[in-house]
Amino acid sequence: MKAKKIGVGIIGFGSITPFHVHSLLEIDDCQLIAIQSSNKEKRQMIRDKYDVIALENHSELLKLDEIDLIIICTPSGFHLEPALAALQAGKHVVVEKPLEINTTRCNQMISASKKSGVSLSCIFQNRFSENFLKVKNAVDSGKLGKLLLGNAYIKWKRDQEYYDMSPWRGTLKGDGGAALINQGIHTIDLLIYLMGQINTISGSIRTLTHDIEGEDVATANLEFQNGALGTIEASTSLYHAFPEKIEIHGEDGSIILEGGEITHWNTKEDGNLELVSKKSDLASGANDPLAIDYNLHKNQLYAIIKAIKQGEKPPVHGQEALRSIQLIEAIYESSDTGKKVRVII
Ligand SMILES: NC(=O)c1ccc[n+]([C@@H]2O[C@H](COP(=O)([O-])OP(=O)(O)OC[C@H]3O[C@@H](n4cnc5c(N)ncnc54)[C@H](O)[C@@H]3O)[C@@H](O)[C@H]2O)c1
Repeated sequence: MKAKKIGVGIIGFGSITPFHVHSLLEIDDCQLIAIQSSNKEKRQMIRDKYDVIALENHSELLKLDEIDLIIICTPSGFHLEPALAALQAGKHVVVEKPLEINTTRCNQMISASKKSGVSLSCIFQNRFSENFLKVKNAVDSGKLGKLLLGNAYIKWKRDQEYYDMSPWRGTLKGDGGAALINQGIHTIDLLIYLMGQINTISGSIRTLTHDIEGEDVATANLEFQNGALGTIEASTSLYHAFPEKIEIHGEDGSIILEGGEITHWNTKEDGNLELVSKKSDLASGANDPLAIDYNLHKNQLYAIIKAIKQGEKPPVHGQEALRSIQLIEAIYESSDTGKKVRVII
């Protein structure tokens, strides 16, 4: 007998939704059943192009028994309400990054998932790239020795138009901030996943070049439990955008990941392998938010669906996705108070 496929529904049809649709259509163990969009033309396009049910309200979508898993693709500050409704309806939930815009809202989702006994996970697709996994293995296996420094740089560019054309980007209610919580969070998530527990954070944020509520320039200093120190620099204001970069330095080696490519691998064990996987054109969201590869979404959705089928906790579950929000919230607090924030993350 053939195993039952996981039925999937999507709430919200915006710029990121096609990344999910194309991924799901290529994953054998699932079937895309329905997509919600409040826009009539989009609903017609969904029916014509993907041959799936298109519904106006998420409550109608949650009534469909054949749906086991809901993917939330609404703006960041509007993840909570549809996620709670889906969890309460007993559906597994995957939320686009960030989990939500502050820890209070994230914790409401985590509690609802525990209460209803269904899973909650969050998209951080860069964790699923082959290059990142090589770096993660190297750090976890101790190849770099005692960790000393971990740095994340997200020096990107977004025009004012990028914010003006959207009712939610760069707003406190819709985005929770800007350069850190929207763009920087991917690289921040990777940094803390590699470096381990954080004990203290100090940071400063500014809004220097855009007419938005959130920050467009930010810096932070981190102290890790293992004794290492770290920095974060993030911006969407730069004249020239650079691929995002993570530098991990240990007593026995350093690895640098730039735009998803390993550009330096210098370790006691392996020697100096410069430009290990550097391509001429680095795939990164540095200039264009959608200049990313949907295969990473596919890798993560595949892993989530496999975990659900096996009754296991999916990767980047709610509590894990909370960490980057705790960190960013602490940077905002430190910038506000001028004080170092002590917090175990
Ligand atoms: N993983 C990634 O690399 C990645 C990239 C881009 C966006 N995202 C995330 O995906 C989410 C959606 O981003 P997007 O760029 O697709 O947004 P978007 O503005 O293009 O689309 C959002 C959609 O949600 C709908 N919507 C539903 N409820 C809404 C509400 N209450 N208010 C306003 N709109 C509502 C809108 O009509 C719109 O179609 C965000 O959380 C964002 O951070 C992730």
